[in-house]
Amino acid sequence: MKNFIFASILLALLLTVNAATFRRALTFVPCDLKNAVNVAIVPKIPKSGKNESFHISGILTEHDITAQKTKLSIAYEDINGKGLGKPYTQPFTASTKAGNPFSLSATRVPTPKLPSSYLIKVAVEDPSNAIPLGCALARVEKI
Ligand SMILES: *[C@@H]1O[C@H](CO)[C@@H](O)[C@H](O)[C@H]1NC(C)=O
Repeated sequence: MKNFIFASILLALLLTVNAATFRRALTFVPCDLKNAVNVAIVPKIPKSGKNESFHISGILTEHDITAQKTKLSIAYEDINGKGLGKPYTQPFTASTKAGNPFSLSATRVPTPKLPSSYLIKVAVEDPSNAIPLGCALARVEKI
């Protein structure tokens, strides 16, 4: 009986830690607050081989978005920054001047085979700029 209670408590603890891990995992942090990119994903946890929806929004205070030229890029990487599969890209269909809100949805982003720990990098890229105009990063860690 004592062992059973102990095992139950341990299991409950493990589940709590797991839930906390996943909750933390799904926080996308903008790389740069002046050019903030916010990301919401559905489902909340990407699954290897399934499609994932990304809803991107934000305000770039320093950069314009140009329709058909500026692109959304979504890349999965392992913890060492090695790419997992080919990054997904999708051009913006609307132009947005710096300082105005933008949004874009990519509803069928294929999820590569994922290790237990990985990174998701979401970036707004433009050929006129060597570095992303804005980006957000999520780090998923299994403990
Ligand atoms: C993911 O989306 C692609 C492109 O629309 C589709 O062909 C494929 O069947 C989808 N895969 C899954 C697992 O839903």
